[in-house]
Amino acid sequence: MASLGTSNVSVEALDEDQAAKELARLGEEIARHDALYYQQDAPEVTDAAYDALRQRLMAIEARFPNLILADSPSTRVGASPATGFSKVKHAVAMLSLGNAFSQEDIVDFVKRVRRFLGLSLQEPVAFTAEPKIDGLSISLRYENGRLVEAATRGDGTTGENVTANVMTIGEIVHNLDTSQIEAPEIFEVRGEIYMARDDFAKLNAAQEAHGEKVFANPRNAAAGSLRQLDASITASRPLRFFAYSWGEVSALPGKTQAEVVSAFGRWGLPVNPLMRVCSTVEEMLASYEEIEAQRSTLPYDIDGVVYKVNRLDYQERLGFVARSPRWAIAHKFPAEQATTQLLDIDIQVGRTGALTPVAKLAPVTVGGVVVSNATLHNEDEIARKDVRIGDTVVVQRAGDVIPQVVEVVLEKRPKDAQPFEFPKVCPVCGSHAVREIDEKNGDQDVVRRCTGGLVCPAQALGRLKHFVSRGAFDIEGLGEKQLEMFYADGRVKRPADIFTLAKRDKTSDKPLAKQEGFGERSVEKLFAAIDECRRVELPRFIYALGIRHVGEQTARDLSLAFLNFETLRDAVFEAAANRPGPDYLRFLRVQGVGEKSARKIIAALSHSSEKLLALAAAGAPPEAALVGSKIASSRVAKPLLREFGSLESLIDSAGRAATQVPGEAYGRVSEIDGIGQVVTDALIDFFTEEHNQEALHDLLREIEVLPFESPKTLSSSVAGKTVVFTGTLSKTTRSEAKAQAERLGAKVSGSVSKK
Ligand code: IVH
Repeated sequence: MASLGTSNVSVEALDEDQAAKELARLGEEIARHDALYYQQDAPEVTDAAYDALRQRLMAIEARFPNLILADSPSTRVGASPATGFSKVKHAVAMLSLGNAFSQEDIVDFVKRVRRFLGLSLQEPVAFTAEPKIDGLSISLRYENGRLVEAATRGDGTTGENVTANVMTIGEIVHNLDTSQIEAPEIFEVRGEIYMARDDFAKLNAAQEAHGEKVFANPRNAAAGSLRQLDASITASRPLRFFAYSWGEVSALPGKTQAEVVSAFGRWGLPVNPLMRVCSTVEEMLASYEEIEAQRSTLPYDIDGVVYKVNRLDYQERLGFVARSPRWAIAHKFPAEQATTQLLDIDIQVGRTGALTPVAKLAPVTVGGVVVSNATLHNEDEIARKDVRIGDTVVVQRAGDVIPQVVEVVLEKRPKDAQPFEFPKVCPVCGSHAVREIDEKNGDQDVVRRCTGGLVCPAQALGRLKHFVSRGAFDIEGLGEKQLEMFYADGRVKRPADIFTLAKRDKTSDKPLAKQEGFGERSVEKLFAAIDECRRVELPRFIYALGIRHVGEQTARDLSLAFLNFETLRDAVFEAAANRPGPDYLRFLRVQGVGEKSARKIIAALSHSSEKLLALAAAGAPPEAALVGSKIASSRVAKPLLREFGSLESLIDSAGRAATQVPGEAYGRVSEIDGIGQVVTDALIDFFTEEHNQEALHDLLREIEVLPFESPKTLSSSVAGKTVVFTGTLSKTTRSEAKAQAERLGAKVSGSVSKK
């Protein structure tokens, strides 16, 4: 094997000149080895030696990001077995904003802020108001004034390293202008990358002329242009930027939001000229109207107004709730609407078996986007709106949400239009589709579900899609399209199959690389991406399982409570052994009866049944008998008898319910913060189901679920403890004290309990 010729000089010792030369040389050398390996099947060096070249190149690029060449192997597609962009863990999470849709929402928001901070009516609190740019958020890390890394938002915690691409955007300076304000050692500027409307129109015209993909809107065009593995493509696209926020910083150039944003401007970064500081709700709403009035004439798309508490010490105290700050909110513009014809109603089957009706529409432009599908929610909604095939309907879309059918234009209804008959069987697998009855309140679920379980291809595929989705395993190169293909050709039927793909592919008579849409390189990349996901964090794993009612937040709550997967599973099995039964639940259905009183009433009824029946035999009305023997208050006695029909039937049910009261093991799951009965039951249903057990067993042979490490539990003295605030607090409000304790990892309880 030939020698490699890597330089012996350590990366730290290189000066800029030497680094530039070496990057050029390494780039060429790696490209040559790529060609030998991929195109000529004639590698000259071992894999390890090749990796050493790449590592050196990356190390130099990390030190001199401004020298990264547009065609560097680190940014080129398929140049290496490494997958796409590398990941960047955000030092400070990139969060989203809560939404408001009305003036009342804003009044409430300001009230909440005041209440949290404990401000009197005389104390002013100012807010900034600025347009909400419809682009994609980005974090730009400047060290000593020099741009060293740029990352997308990703899932908020981890984004993609798009440094090379961002370096090509003219409006983003590589070096902050420090002539007026010094640059802190570390400063992560955050803001929005977007494409102006006329640039978008020109780009689409050019794309169309070249027979290439046209983008649906400026936002998609901006995202597609930034996420190019070949940075020279990004360079050719007219991307722009507004700075409006920040992440990790070693110092701040101001004490208010407005001051920091003004510093951004003096550092040479674009800031939005429509930002105002408002001292009252009236001024905030006036700002909203001022911005909305300009919406159609602005050169870029906006979808609302963002208000932020101006004082940074207030922002700090307000902190965050779930994934958005308490100190900011997005006031969205009203949804845009259009009318069109409803051509058909399609029934889609999701991963939980839910049958969702989708309106097939004559294509219509709504707020700049062509819409031909819209959701009709469920069968009750179709009936309520009396939507019929052939109708003319009003559709609306707001932000990123799925377009909706709002109402029917009755005057335009064709004479022969028939009410829509919702199917009672699954259109995919033919199993019965039923609406479940909620055991607790006896109501019928609005959703009709296919009872086919994993036998139903739509459900199986839906679960697989969820399994690889963003908050779950998030496997690069394995999206919905690929899964559909793999499912159809039998390659992947269950999650475990994803992880045995590579092994099976070796002996397959239809290797993936020979299939349409794939090649040696993309297959190699895909398998590498799958391997990278074999070690998975607990919250992602729990979320990936697609358990009903278990979203990302619930998956985090469960992780925090159980710390590893086995403990969770054992706890759920124990809970299953003493979950509440139907007779017990019937007691909970009675108005005024909670869990505590249900237990009391059931116990008392079984205890005094003879006495009660004797009283009744002696002629006492049932209600009086119940009250007289102190089994129920007069407020509850009547509803109890109404639910159960007669005293005899009530006593009978109590006898059965006595053995159905949920036990402690059930409570150990259901009483966790954020869990409750619905989730506990869903967990039990999931873990005790045979197919799921099998699928899990096979999956766990292929992957490793990492134990959860709560970032909070490490440092503070109240971490993991339960605290109660009693009496009057003099320095903060109750909600602020609670938030502060929770930030330090404590659980805050409302009252002192036995525990
Ligand atoms: S402030 C801590 N200001 O909206 C939150 N966000 O829905 C900091 N966005 O992810 C965000 N214009 O991508 C802020 N003027 C603006 C914005 C803005 C657009 C985006 C941003 C964010 C999303 C939240």
